[in-house]
Amino acid sequence: MCGIVGYIGKRQACEVLIKGLKRLEYRGYDSAGVAFSGDSFRIYKCKGKVSDLEEQLKDKNINGCMGMGHTRWATHGEPTNNNAHPHQSMNGKFVIIHNGIIENYAKLKSGLEKEGYKFASETDTEVLANLIEYVYLHNQNNGDSLSCVDAVRVALNMVEGAYGLVIMSEDNPEKLIAARKGSPLVIGIGRGEYFIASDATPIIEYTNSVIYLNDDDIAVIGLDGLNLTNLKKVKQIPNIKKIDLKLDEIEKNGFEHYMLKEIYEQPRAIRDTYRGRLNFESKYLKLGGLHNVFSELKEAKRIMIIACGTSWHAGLVGEYLFEEFTRIPTEVEYASEFRYRNPVINKGDLVIAISQSGETADTLAAIQLAKKAGAIVIGICNVVGSSIPRETIAGVYTHAGPEIGVASTKAFTAQVTVLTMMAMAIGQANQGLTEKEFEDLIGELYAIPDKIEKILNTSNHIKDIAEKIKDSTNSLYLGRGYLFPVALEGALKLKEISYIHAEGYPAAEMKHGPIALIDEKMPVIVLATKDHSYDKIVSNIQEVKARKGCIIAIVTEGDTTIKEMADYVIEVPQSDFALAPLLTVVPLQLLSYYIAVYRGCNVDQPRNLAKSVTVE
Ligand code: M6R
Repeated sequence: MCGIVGYIGKRQACEVLIKGLKRLEYRGYDSAGVAFSGDSFRIYKCKGKVSDLEEQLKDKNINGCMGMGHTRWATHGEPTNNNAHPHQSMNGKFVIIHNGIIENYAKLKSGLEKEGYKFASETDTEVLANLIEYVYLHNQNNGDSLSCVDAVRVALNMVEGAYGLVIMSEDNPEKLIAARKGSPLVIGIGRGEYFIASDATPIIEYTNSVIYLNDDDIAVIGLDGLNLTNLKKVKQIPNIKKIDLKLDEIEKNGFEHYMLKEIYEQPRAIRDTYRGRLNFESKYLKLGGLHNVFSELKEAKRIMIIACGTSWHAGLVGEYLFEEFTRIPTEVEYASEFRYRNPVINKGDLVIAISQSGETADTLAAIQLAKKAGAIVIGICNVVGSSIPRETIAGVYTHAGPEIGVASTKAFTAQVTVLTMMAMAIGQANQGLTEKEFEDLIGELYAIPDKIEKILNTSNHIKDIAEKIKDSTNSLYLGRGYLFPVALEGALKLKEISYIHAEGYPAAEMKHGPIALIDEKMPVIVLATKDHSYDKIVSNIQEVKARKGCIIAIVTEGDTTIKEMADYVIEVPQSDFALAPLLTVVPLQLLSYYIAVYRGCNVDQPRNLAKSVTVE
């Protein structure tokens, strides 16, 4: 949440900053701003998107080879011009941009007010700018001159919370200071130039050499190089990594929206996720990232999955998979609940944290709690080098490629692919699966991308259904077993991008309450592929029909029974029922996408949301 870019080098900074902010806009789009150093600071900012800022910059002095930019997801204070970043300290000494939350800001603010500080915004960030300045000037007045970076260090030691920061100072105008705790920050190293960003996407156009800052790191960056220390002023050795991210992976490549591109990328994403790990011919499956902990995994007495949002839905599918394939008791919990409720965690329990971004604050905090309690904590993440893979002892990357649309799509199917492989590997090792079952599943999983391609080819039919139901104000998603989490995911997709109220329910629960909602205006999307509870779901459909609900059924190819009852059917190819989530979720993603487009919603940047939730 919130995107940060900084630049120092030989190029015009503004161009790098604006391009970078556009790439980071998925992290928040409430306001945008830039600042340049020179004889004095030039700060331009406004409520709205980066394109609004660009308009504002047309007649401004934006010359300069050093600067920083910010795109905001509001936490403290509404999206207004005043609350937009960058924020300047009261006496003009420091300008800062910030991603994260300063939790003790109220206390710090009242202390600063007593010292005569006045505030122009409601943000916690301005409090930090003034705190740094206060430390700097106070020491000067007392005759102990403190360098700008040392003032930053002292101030950050007083702060509770999370931050990714870039700071410019009036008295050291040729340096950028970057600091991190809890919120991600990457430094790109070019030839005689440096880039700072919340993730690598603004950087890859210029260089593939990066340093991921660790918590408590403070970097001072100038044309003469980079100096890395920590909050205790201990020198740190920069660990330079090469990133393997291509520019076209973060472009729309002819699709109208990132979300649509990412839906269509799913066959490729799943193939990339199992490539090198699963072999159809030799019936081989190996997850290299789990090698070091595999013997503990197969002995685990309990599995706990922690995640948020769509990743939590993938985790629910994981619960069904693990219990069925490995017979190890498995629980799934929202990371935000887990971290605050004193959960029972036994030494040797296996905790699996799932996150597309690898930066979700609640998931990170839950990992730390589980580690402290002695659990084996492993991760399933998409973003290489992000915080969660670094916090976990082992893990498996999904190779979905960058997911930029705020509504998660390919990350879900890639996560379910990894969970399926994990459950299969453990199930093979602990005999939860017979060799025949294991081999059949390899074939089934291998075939999934082709089957998704078939579903994608029916998108015009799904678009027609979307047009019919686009004006609904409510909708219900029903599923059983493996398809219950898919019902939840379908409902979340619809809510977040089209603002239609939607609820996912286990189909059998309908008669315990939600059935009261059903009338002819209520679309009911039923996941009804052929599995052992098919007859039950057929009965559920009849119950809805008897109350005049409009039924959209996701069925197995060739199903004639449900076709006669439902208003609309969408067919998906037959598969093993444990893998049906990977297929049935796709029409639901497309349905939400087209409904949102028909309603004129901003699909990639839905209101109030941001992609990477780095605040609690
Ligand atoms: O990056 P993560 O997977 O940890 O993110 C978790 C949720 O914030 C995310 O899935 C969110 O619910 C999406 N907007 C869903 O489409």
